[in-house]
Amino acid sequence: MHFFSAAAFLLVFVPSLPTEAGKCPRVCSCDSTKLTVACVGKNLTNVPPTIDEITVKLDLRGNNLQVLSRGAFMPTPYLTHLNLQRCNIITVKEGAFRTLGRVVSLNLAYNKIDILYQESFDGLSSLKELYLDHNRVEEIQPGAFTQLGFLNMLALTHNQLVYIPNMAFQGLNNIKWLRLSHNSLNNLATEAFAGLFTLSRLSVDHNELQFFPTQTMNRLRDVTRLDMSHNPMTYLGEESVSMAKLTHLYLNHMSLQDLSDQALSQAPRLSHLDLSHNQLRNLEPLSGPKELASLNLTGNPVYCNCYMRPLREWASVRGVKLLGACVGPPHLSDEPLQAVAPLDMRCRSRGESLKDEFEKDDESTGSTPPTTKPKLKVKCPVNCDCDIEAQHATCEGRGHSKVPRGFPTKTQLLDLRSNHFHYLPANSFPGTNQVVSLHLEFCKMHEIESGAFRGMRNLFYLYLSDNDLTSLDPGAFAGAPELTYLHLEGNRLAQFPGSAVALLPNLFVLHLERNAISKLEPTGLLSSVTPKLRELYLTNNTITSIAKGALDSAFLGTLHLDSNQLTEMPTHALSEAPNLEELSLSRNSIRWVGANAFQPISQSLKRLYMDQMGMEKMSREALVGLGPRLKALTVRGNQLEELPDLSPLTGLEVVDLQDNPLLCDCPLLPLRRWIENVSLEVTATCGHPPEIKGQKVRDVHVFTSCPESVSPPDEVVVAPRPPKVKKPKPSPSKAPGVKARPAKHKAKPPKPTKNRPQKKPVAPKVTKNKKTL
Ligand SMILES: *[C@@H]1O[C@H](CO)[C@@H](O)[C@H](O)[C@H]1NC(C)=O
Ligand SMILES: *[C@@H]1O[C@H](CO)[C@@H](O)[C@H](O)[C@H]1NC(C)=O
Ligand SMILES: *[C@@H]1O[C@H](CO)[C@@H](O)[C@H](O)[C@H]1NC(C)=O
Ligand SMILES: *[C@@H]1O[C@H](CO)[C@@H](O)[C@H](O)[C@H]1NC(C)=O
Repeated sequence: MHFFSAAAFLLVFVPSLPTEAGKCPRVCSCDSTKLTVACVGKNLTNVPPTIDEITVKLDLRGNNLQVLSRGAFMPTPYLTHLNLQRCNIITVKEGAFRTLGRVVSLNLAYNKIDILYQESFDGLSSLKELYLDHNRVEEIQPGAFTQLGFLNMLALTHNQLVYIPNMAFQGLNNIKWLRLSHNSLNNLATEAFAGLFTLSRLSVDHNELQFFPTQTMNRLRDVTRLDMSHNPMTYLGEESVSMAKLTHLYLNHMSLQDLSDQALSQAPRLSHLDLSHNQLRNLEPLSGPKELASLNLTGNPVYCNCYMRPLREWASVRGVKLLGACVGPPHLSDEPLQAVAPLDMRCRSRGESLKDEFEKDDESTGSTPPTTKPKLKVKCPVNCDCDIEAQHATCEGRGHSKVPRGFPTKTQLLDLRSNHFHYLPANSFPGTNQVVSLHLEFCKMHEIESGAFRGMRNLFYLYLSDNDLTSLDPGAFAGAPELTYLHLEGNRLAQFPGSAVALLPNLFVLHLERNAISKLEPTGLLSSVTPKLRELYLTNNTITSIAKGALDSAFLGTLHLDSNQLTEMPTHALSEAPNLEELSLSRNSIRWVGANAFQPISQSLKRLYMDQMGMEKMSREALVGLGPRLKALTVRGNQLEELPDLSPLTGLEVVDLQDNPLLCDCPLLPLRRWIENVSLEVTATCGHPPEIKGQKVRDVHVFTSCPESVSPPDEVVVAPRPPKVKKPKPSPSKAPGVKARPAKHKAKPPKPTKNRPQKKPVAPKVTKNKKTL
């Protein structure tokens, strides 16, 4: 059957059906009826060039291809299935698959791919399934997937992603299932999943998410199944889950200690909720889901006293199936929740019930073991909570003045924030070499001794935000070489801590906002010191000068210098930052931007923010070199009367020119025309001459009298009027304070969705239910 249909297909579409059957490469085996070729495990370093052109399935598993170069599959344009698993592939060059417009399934699993470039998957216009699991992907470049408009399933599991940037999956217009399990994700940008309107299933289990990413998830309008299990979350607050169509939610194997009864109030369709293997001791009836069918509490230390009764009653009334068993009180231990009558869930007296509540920690070791299986005695410092299974320990806000010792050796997340350590001596964390994430925010620390973190070989995230550090010892981070994300914002550092971070060869993101840094010195702070630094945040310091060479870095992509005291463009300092993509200079006082100000970074820059700088003039040549690559430009709230020509910036998705006193006269005509011509919402207002002050550039008549303003009549003469509907640009990304929307909706402007800041994760609190029943 297959043979006939395939043959018929070929008779129609292949002009000359090759007759010779001798085209099978020596190391391969070919089936000329099924049109398959398999060259498996042959250590090939190239795709064999003599494969028959009519081949539809090509299996190259287990070779040694290393680099897939442009046009690598040119000889086999009819392929529908291509298997490249375990081929030692490191790089997929732009255009490697360009000739494969019929491939529906591509398997690149178990290779060594680390970056997904913008055009890596160009040409795969029929692709339905893409397997990229078990690689080393740590970066997805913008536009990596834009050509994959038919893709249904994308597997990126078992990679090294720590962060998903805005719009990462743009272009996946038919995606149904996105699999991101088994990465190291600890942060998802608010618009990370923007545009995925067809997505129905998302897997982000086995990652490092410490908080439910509410804002990010509520962009996913059609998702029905969400798997978040195996992430180190401790608490789910009100309205954490705001997903209108969600039916299945997996929050098992996390570290939940508490869950607000309103946590799911914005998930009305939820039918299956898996909370198994958390640390929930009791739970209130959940508001929101109207059709909840099952609630899995297996493996939680559920204490079946009067506090559990409302949930039990609610479950009976609503027909919610409860899974799990009671761990206590003793006469109910091991009893399935579903089998306990609500009236048996009692607190014998107020005193006893309080005792029940507060003696929970003694139970596992005390005289009345709650279960028949003896529990392992949990090693945990006094006045801390350790969760062996979740590999999580917290002593948050317990008034410790010294770092407690004796955490379980497998602890991966250690939360010590809001204590009063003042000073952190050397070797403060013995026996914690499994800790990945260490929280020391708000600990009133003013000094960290050399070697304080020694031995923390797996430390990846370190939070030292909001302390009183004025300087850092050069050896402060000695012995923690994996440190990748370092938070030092909200201290009083007077200098860039160059020598301290020089011990961190893997440093990727450095937060130094809200310090007192006044200068960036020329000592090659970045390239020699932190070769992998990708994002540097210096917002809200007191920087007045940046020496040439201070920002030299071949790798730096994001630089925030906003809210400082710069008075000049730091052009010279950026001459060796050839990969800078995002630069924020807002809220400095740079009055004047000269010619070629961005020339050194013009080949890489994508987002440029220059709001509220008191800028009075931009040279006509200020933006020279910037072209289609630039996606965002903001100059809001300056004193500009004129603007340079923006028409070379054909890739703009976000532009903000508001609150500038533009001089609406003939020199501004090019801007006016540009505004009318682009499919972007651009608001620009006249500040002069006085009689039209406050009117929109787009609406005023002054330009009709300009020489050479022979424009089409409907553009200029009749105003105001919405410009013609144009093809919308790819959906614009949003940046704070920036409006952008496709012109399509211009007839009646929709209210721009308020860009609420991501709800800051509330420090997890274990609230005790104080109600007396
Ligand atoms: C595969 O090829 C490489 C060189 O291309 C060679 O060093 C290696 O020994 C080969 N392995 C096998 C199993 O043939
Ligand atoms: C409940 O959770 C347990 C433990 O994770 C699991 O084995 C079981 O299959 C779950 N039951 C249902 C109905 O989901
Ligand atoms: C800068 O930091 C100071 C002190 O933390 C704060 O009061 C101020 O609001 C911040 N300014 C901006 C623009 O963030
Ligand atoms: C208007 O846009 C078109 C294409 O989008 C471009 O070719 C043309 O030069 C633009 N005109 C002006 C005045 O910017």
